[in-house]
Amino acid sequence: MTVLVTGARGKVARAVLDRLHAAGLPVRAASARPADLSVPAGVDTAALVLSQSETFAAALAGVRQVFLYPEPAGIDAFIEAARTAGVEHVVLLSSSSVLAPGAEADPLGSHNLAVERALAASGLPSTFLRPDAFASNAFMWAHPIAHGLPVQLAYPEASLAPIHPEDIADVAVEALTGTALRGHVVTLTGAQALTFREQLAVLSEVLGRDIAVKAISRAEAEDQMGRFMPAPLVGSLLAFWAEASVRPAAIADTTETLLGTPARTFRQWAVENASAFTTPGE
Ligand SMILES: NC(=O)c1ccc[n+]([C@@H]2O[C@H](COP(=O)([O-])OP(=O)(O)OC[C@H]3O[C@@H](n4cnc5c(N)ncnc54)[C@H](OP(=O)(O)O)[C@@H]3O)[C@@H](O)[C@H]2O)c1
Repeated sequence: MTVLVTGARGKVARAVLDRLHAAGLPVRAASARPADLSVPAGVDTAALVLSQSETFAAALAGVRQVFLYPEPAGIDAFIEAARTAGVEHVVLLSSSSVLAPGAEADPLGSHNLAVERALAASGLPSTFLRPDAFASNAFMWAHPIAHGLPVQLAYPEASLAPIHPEDIADVAVEALTGTALRGHVVTLTGAQALTFREQLAVLSEVLGRDIAVKAISRAEAEDQMGRFMPAPLVGSLLAFWAEASVRPAAIADTTETLLGTPARTFRQWAVENASAFTTPGE
């Protein structure tokens, strides 16, 4: 009863894969670039590009459950192929962006909503995980911090409840291996609301050195972020951070609420990933 884990180079997918494999469950790692995967010995790999239906049959052969990264292009054909292959349950890594007012018109929200709606309309039993911001988004500050430069932010007081990717993986594995979460829609957050400035203060303590924060204008942030991501996504993120600056982030404390274990803290994530902030060039 193989579980297909898509987007297997991703942080959450890899953690899900490792847990299922360690539990002795048959698992297949699917990636757009399977040659770039490094998976534990004994884990099967497959090429899967959701916009290329010719990749579906081999990836889905013998699969009963799918951990799915959302990609609207080709989703209806993928669901049909999954059903034909005998898939009985999909756990979707969606996003809390689907809950924002105006999600339908927002690039992030509409991307995830399209996949949720396709699954819901298909009747294929599905569990939707809707995480808030990942703790690992702090990697966006690795370059300036490693080089001793100020971190430039348009919204330093944006309050988020960063969730450790491993907590999302724990919940995903519970949804794949147990019955309590199956078919549910779950919003996931970390245990603590932290502004960007407060996240940087945690990183500063962990690294044992000051990190300067420089407030910049929204236009400056648009210009900087636009160098490495599409303009609609930049607009979406900046609008989200502006909104998040108005009030503390809501907490849905994922692992404590759903699994009965304390959530991993942002500090823990920072300690585990400190080397990314100390090595210039990364
Ligand atoms: N970041 C957040 O705050 C956040 C919040 C809520 C929801 N989400 C959702 O969670 C999902 C994962 O988000 P993420 O930002 O953390 O991305 P990620 O998991 O690091 O990567 C996403 C996917 O991009 C592909 N990829 C391309 N180049 C890669 C590389 N060099 N290293 C690793 N993966 C690479 C991988 O798929 P292949 O192996 O198939 O190429 C991977 O699964 C997204 O669908 C996002 O919408 C994110």
